[in-house]
Amino acid sequence: MPLQRNVAREQGAEMTITRQDELDGLKEIGRIVANTMRAMARALEPGMTTRELDEIGRLCLEQAGAVSAPQSTYDFPGATCISVNEEIAHGIPGDRVIAKGDLVNIDVSASKNGFYADTGATHRVGPVRPSLERLCRDGRRATQIGIAQVGAGKPLAGIGNAIGQFAEKRGYTLIRNLASHGVGRSLHEEPEEIATWPTRGDRRRIHKGLVLTVEPFLSRGGQFASDGSDGWTLYSTPAAPVVQYEHTVVATERGAIVLTLPG
Ligand code: CO
Ligand code: CO
Repeated sequence: MPLQRNVAREQGAEMTITRQDELDGLKEIGRIVANTMRAMARALEPGMTTRELDEIGRLCLEQAGAVSAPQSTYDFPGATCISVNEEIAHGIPGDRVIAKGDLVNIDVSASKNGFYADTGATHRVGPVRPSLERLCRDGRRATQIGIAQVGAGKPLAGIGNAIGQFAEKRGYTLIRNLASHGVGRSLHEEPEEIATWPTRGDRRRIHKGLVLTVEPFLSRGGQFASDGSDGWTLYSTPAAPVVQYEHTVVATERGAIVLTLPG
């Protein structure tokens, strides 16, 4: 679940892992959100509503003893965020029927025992246009390129600068007001507003043990996310296809540990 820039919220401290039990707690919730994502992706098919898809996610979280973070943190009206085609983030599960050729973004974030993890991915429903196939593949690559810049002592701005280079080379745009963020003891915490696009003047460094998300929004023309009328759903401006792939990671001296892997 991305952080919308310039929206007032309570400032949270950041999570820096110093103990093994903290890493274990984060790995457990990381696995739970990743397994929930996998179950939802496998169930995804034309003809179902986004509410039915969300229900699968809700059950997975419940069976694992986890609590939906958007619900508990923001009173979001769903267990997961489901955004279809022109919707790019924070889509509310409801009556919308998923169709062949759709791009469906699922964002799962949850907590267990006080630990939070956050993951997201855009899924294709059956065959989609080749340009969208390529966008999905490159969206995953953009996230991996960002994760490769995570490590103790590295500049936080390195993430967005590397993703920006990749996007520019391939002729993509990046949504510039949906940021990555600290996570761990709450859904959105310090460091807030981690750019996944090129920036100047951000002198912050990634220190050992920092927990954060990497979630670029790669697009074929979109520049920023705009509010719709329901108070949640975000749309691309200008209107264009957008994908998002998100992992929660921990910074170590030897690079990033990805927490949101199924298992
Ligand atoms: Co997310
Ligand atoms: Co997020």
